[in-house]
Amino acid sequence: ESQEQEDTSSIITALVSKLPTRQGWSQSYVLYNSYWINPLFVHGILHLHTTFKPRHDDIILASNPKCGTTWMKALAFTIINRSRYELGNNDHPLLSRHPQELVPFMETPTCHTNGDGLNYLEVLPSPRLLTTHMPLSLFPPQLSSSIAANGRVVYMCREPKDAFVSRWHFASKFRRCSGEHSTNDLESALDMFIQGFSPYGPFWDHCLEYWRQSISSPDKILFLKYEDIMSEPVKHIVRLATFLGVPFSVKEEEDGVPKEVVRLCSFESLSGMCVNQLGEFVRLQDKVIDKSDFFRKGVVGDWVNHMSEEMGRKIDRVMEEKLKGSGLVL
Ligand code: A3P
Repeated sequence: ESQEQEDTSSIITALVSKLPTRQGWSQSYVLYNSYWINPLFVHGILHLHTTFKPRHDDIILASNPKCGTTWMKALAFTIINRSRYELGNNDHPLLSRHPQELVPFMETPTCHTNGDGLNYLEVLPSPRLLTTHMPLSLFPPQLSSSIAANGRVVYMCREPKDAFVSRWHFASKFRRCSGEHSTNDLESALDMFIQGFSPYGPFWDHCLEYWRQSISSPDKILFLKYEDIMSEPVKHIVRLATFLGVPFSVKEEEDGVPKEVVRLCSFESLSGMCVNQLGEFVRLQDKVIDKSDFFRKGVVGDWVNHMSEEMGRKIDRVMEEKLKGSGLVL
């Protein structure tokens, strides 16, 4: 079997090497199925297409990068596991592990076969909580069928100007590591973004795929917005728990459990924990991502502190044009 895996891997490598490539955001990206994706992740996605075995109770957390993935991971984990790990206990896993570690990404290289020939995703206990930045159209077909039958997908979206500014800061960190200068200033990053060239971009197509599916199958896909959760956290956490099949009981609501979930998973709470402040999360190629990089500011509307109004309007215009008629407003 491992020979077979090696063969598949070299076929994928050959395929990825032929894709159009573009440099930006301090990295190089390839265009696959109309999306700009880190080649390592395209490799991961294609690997999933041949190996992924869906389970009927899988829960998929999906998002565009920098739209609140870390937050969603913490919330979903806490909600799903609240009878096993009571809130307020000092052995709650969120106190000792980074949300990014508690809930794995599907398409990252660490999820591929490890030394024992075991696929990491295969050995996770059910129900699996899995995260992805894949657009819906790149889901392995076997996963799409499983979702059509039983699936639960939660999609987290965010106001594009804030997501853009968040991504720019994240990429700036890489730029410092690689000693790259002057390129990728905010203006040229903005140009790339509105051309649709951003990690897992075009941003709007990513949102629209999930949006449309959430309209046609609301029981399968829950579409959440970062700003909505910020403004009415309890309401949306209750909605999320119900969607995930573990609704809060009347007693839990009376006891303020939803509020406790919100508090534990808030930016202030998570960013203040040692486990999220110190150490490296992962090294990808020559880039180091620190655990603290997933917590910057965590507010709505921070774009005004980094972009001029005119720059903001550039994003608004393109979003308006692309989302026109969809019913989606971001
Ligand atoms: P900012 O850069 O605007 O602060 P992702 O997790 O998808 O990579 O998104 C990162 C963004 O979510 C960052 O936004 C980060 O600060 C913010 N974030 C992280 N944890 C959060 C939390 N618990 N609540 C709200 N926002 C959070």
